[in-house]
Amino acid sequence: MTTVRLNSADPVSFDTDALIVGFRSGPEGPRPATGAEPLDAAFGGKLAASLSSLGFAGKPGEIAKLPTFGSVSAPLLVAVGLGETADLEGLRRAAGAAVRSLAGTSRAALLLPAESAEEAEAVALGGLLGAYAFSRYRTGGDQKAPVADLTVLSGAPGETAERASVLAESVALVRDLVNTPPSDLWPAKFAEIAERTGAEAGLSVEVLDDKQLRDGGYGGLIGVGQGSANPPRLVRLSYTHPEAAKTLAFVGKGITFDSGGLSLKPSASMDWMKSDMGGAGAVFGALVGIARLGLRVNAIGYLCLAENLPSGTAQRPSDVIHSYSGKTVEVLDTDAEGRLVLMDGIARAAEDHPHAIIDVATLTGAQIVALGWRTAGVMANDDELRELVVEAAGAAGEGAWGMPLPEELRKGLDSPIADIANLQPERWGSMLAAGIFLKEFVPDGVRWAHIDMAGPAFNKGEPYGYVPKGGTGAVTRTLIGLAERHASASNQ
Ligand code: BES
Ligand code: MN
Ligand code: ZN
Repeated sequence: MTTVRLNSADPVSFDTDALIVGFRSGPEGPRPATGAEPLDAAFGGKLAASLSSLGFAGKPGEIAKLPTFGSVSAPLLVAVGLGETADLEGLRRAAGAAVRSLAGTSRAALLLPAESAEEAEAVALGGLLGAYAFSRYRTGGDQKAPVADLTVLSGAPGETAERASVLAESVALVRDLVNTPPSDLWPAKFAEIAERTGAEAGLSVEVLDDKQLRDGGYGGLIGVGQGSANPPRLVRLSYTHPEAAKTLAFVGKGITFDSGGLSLKPSASMDWMKSDMGGAGAVFGALVGIARLGLRVNAIGYLCLAENLPSGTAQRPSDVIHSYSGKTVEVLDTDAEGRLVLMDGIARAAEDHPHAIIDVATLTGAQIVALGWRTAGVMANDDELRELVVEAAGAAGEGAWGMPLPEELRKGLDSPIADIANLQPERWGSMLAAGIFLKEFVPDGVRWAHIDMAGPAFNKGEPYGYVPKGGTGAVTRTLIGLAERHASASNQ
């Protein structure tokens, strides 16, 4: 894992392998961002002009590398664009892109506008998130290792680096789980990792196995998992703080592989369905982060783990299952499985009497149709809670947008024989219909929000900013931010 430190040293004489320097774009070309002026002076004031001659304009995410020929201690200068103005997310992205471009380098220092503690943390966090690599399955020695040591050149107080490290490690934990192939991550294995890592972080962890799930009446988890030789699990992680006034419950969809079941997916939609546990991953990563930060809030996380496969024991379209809530569900499509494991998780979470329940799921392709790859859809039975989730996501730099739960969609889920069906007959508005389905399992008076992150959980394209290819760890930091927003004020 990459380490990060803050240091108020002089960038010109600082001993490092690469010096990352922020530049603004403007009508007159790139110019050094605040704090980078002494550096420009070390190059005789010609740095911006030299970069411009390389075609570098200082646009967001742009990178140019220059040898320093002894003008400063670092042998390599990495210019990174910040655009005309950069907010905290702009700083995170620039730091992430620059650090990612330095894989194979051992040490790097970041000279970006980071006068406040908030800005320094953003630079540290972006750098750490950009340093992520998943190389567990590479056997050759040709893989370039991520930067090992980062220094944020800033006079801001030092604890900010600590918080950035906790956040980045939580996200890396989730990315690792999402990237792990389903041959090495099945429900019981995920539960084991949650038990071990959760205990290390100071969480209490309880795991229900398939027998306990059957005896306990968790028909959704059993129905979805019964087609696989790897049976389902329900993991409950809990963190308590003695001064906490509020309890939050997070429920994550943890389908370790979604083939669709007997309603089999076409191959092209299936090869990345190892990411269908991204919601449970985010809940797990958030609980670990909340515990390590010692937030003054109680948090409970449910990981609804199952593998959705077709076989002689698989559930069939038209089966009726008895959910944990007591309601019966006709399974019209076995590929609409996420809502079946979540309905049990949500009903169980309500028994803890939390202040609010937030579920997180790679639930529908319709989310990607509506909002694209990077923006999660947020639905809720409470306007204030929905807005708070969207605001927390925005502050974390994670795209999210409020979506409605139109009541008229409920009748599309009527079943001729059971209380509700898991699929509406038409495909229009499927993200919202899935939300309407879940809402049926939230007891009256319980605040609840649902985050559909089918697109954001996995990056099928090229890396950008601090986001790598593959597992992104999306929503993990949003959940930690929500916990912070529900924490009691410190009495110091
Ligand atoms: N895991 C999928 C949703 C998904 C799609 C996640 C693409 C990530 C990327 C989910 O279980 C699913 O199959 N949903 C179906 C529901 C439909 C049958 C109502 C879908 O969205 O097509
Ligand atoms: Mn599915
Ligand atoms: Zn799924």
